[in-house]
Amino acid sequence: MPSLSELVRVHTDLDDEDVRWLHLLLADWQIIADLSFADLVLWLPDQEQRGFWAGAQMRPTTGPTAYVDDVVGSFVPAGRRPLLDTAYSTGRLVREGDPEWRDDVPVRVESIPVRSAGRVIAVVARNTNLMGIRTPSRLELSYLETAADLTQMIAEGSFPSLGQRSDHADSPRVGDGFLRLDGDGAVVYASPNALSVYRRLGLSGDLDGTSLADVTRGLVPPLRRPDEETLSAVLSGRGNRDTEIGAAEVSLIVRSIPLRRGADHVGAVVLVRDVTDLRRRDRELVTKDATIREIHHRVKNNLQTVAALLRLQARRIAEPAARSALEEAVRRVGSIAIVHETLSHSVEGHVDFDDIADRLGAMVTEVSSVGERVRVRRVGSFGRLASDVANALAMVLTELLQNAVEHGYPPLDESTGDRGAGDAEIALTARRAPGRLRLTIDDDGVGLPAGFDPDLSSSLGLSIVRTLVESELGGQLDLGPGLRGRGTRVAVDVPLARD
Ligand SMILES: Nc1ncnc2c1ncn2[C@@H]1O[C@H](COP(=O)(O)OP(=O)(O)OP(=O)(O)O)[C@@H](O)[C@H]1O
Ligand SMILES: [Mg+2]
Repeated sequence: MPSLSELVRVHTDLDDEDVRWLHLLLADWQIIADLSFADLVLWLPDQEQRGFWAGAQMRPTTGPTAYVDDVVGSFVPAGRRPLLDTAYSTGRLVREGDPEWRDDVPVRVESIPVRSAGRVIAVVARNTNLMGIRTPSRLELSYLETAADLTQMIAEGSFPSLGQRSDHADSPRVGDGFLRLDGDGAVVYASPNALSVYRRLGLSGDLDGTSLADVTRGLVPPLRRPDEETLSAVLSGRGNRDTEIGAAEVSLIVRSIPLRRGADHVGAVVLVRDVTDLRRRDRELVTKDATIREIHHRVKNNLQTVAALLRLQARRIAEPAARSALEEAVRRVGSIAIVHETLSHSVEGHVDFDDIADRLGAMVTEVSSVGERVRVRRVGSFGRLASDVANALAMVLTELLQNAVEHGYPPLDESTGDRGAGDAEIALTARRAPGRLRLTIDDDGVGLPAGFDPDLSSSLGLSIVRTLVESELGGQLDLGPGLRGRGTRVAVDVPLARD
């Protein structure tokens, strides 16, 4: 379906100011459709005066629609719907005496000129499906009367009105709770839903005849209501505004639209919506996030304790092989702790992995005796990863970086552990493509042992890496000689869920 802006640009002479006005009107016309129990169609004048284009359409949520099909984008030539032509040329509301029959459905049609800055810029057609009209009760009469006030205001150019509106999706609808105020802010009519909302706030009496602002002040403690200026502007119906009001157990959003006739303020529509459940869910989500963060924090602390215990035990062991095995366990536990530490700061279970990779690189070179000589340089970015992927990948990186350090740059002198002077660099390259992450680890060290077959190697480090990459992450692992005939290149390619 074409957008209003598109239709305006292609078919009409309306300018940016006019379009802004029409968008403001559309932001609120659901209220008019609901109050009228009628379909609204916005008709835009053709630039060559050949007729009108349907620019937008709104169905009522309070009654049956008069249009089963969408009409936006359709064209009505001049003369086919005289009501549109008359409303546009005279600038007055036009109503037909007899209903139109459309597919055996009686439809009452009215045309409302849309005035902005003194000019008529479009016409709103209001079509009421008369089959749905019930015997008018006080509610219906109040709705219809208010709808009449608002449509008159559209024709006079005083609706929509500029005002401070927060554009939240929770904006109240007519069905949530409707109040009609008089010019002094006293309630003329409150719908049953509006009364229920006020009952939940603690109201015991009736609302009719009372000052809505006074009643609300009496029910809601000062701490839980907006500043006095906002409160009286909204609840006395003098400002086109909305605000949120909360008592201890109940939260509501209040929206007011002042009604004017010429220059006179004649009253207001006030819509109220109980948003207690929404707000409770908001609060629950916040505490759930905090709990998850706290759990990650504790896991990290526990892992650090485990690492400390293993380190203590390693110091008591004389046998070098057993000792270095324990030291490796310390490192492996440490790399998981780093992920949990990062997760404990994140909200949605996603982490920025660059930070983790850099810390793992630093950890691997610090722990070994090559710290002086070898460093890890990251190229490119991992971006954000889900926590389970991050956990597995952190282990993989720890093992592969450790191998590059340990086996790529072996000690020159076994007895002293001296690895010589000079700079060596391990390049960790990360590349994100949609739904994929590719990374390579390149060292320019001594290279893989002659005849080494990574698929036959049964040592623990590469087994961990292979299991994690292939089974856990569903990816691929490749080990081979470095690019320029020196050192080793390890490539890892994993699929990622697209978000
Ligand atoms: N970057 C590298 N440069 C040279 N050789 C490597 C490299 N990476 C792996 N290797 C070779 O592959 C072998 C297997 O590595 P793997 O990580 O599985 O075991 P490890 O490092 O010997 O012991 P650990 O289980 O403690 O990690 C190593 O012993 C080493 O010979
Ligand atoms: Mg290893």
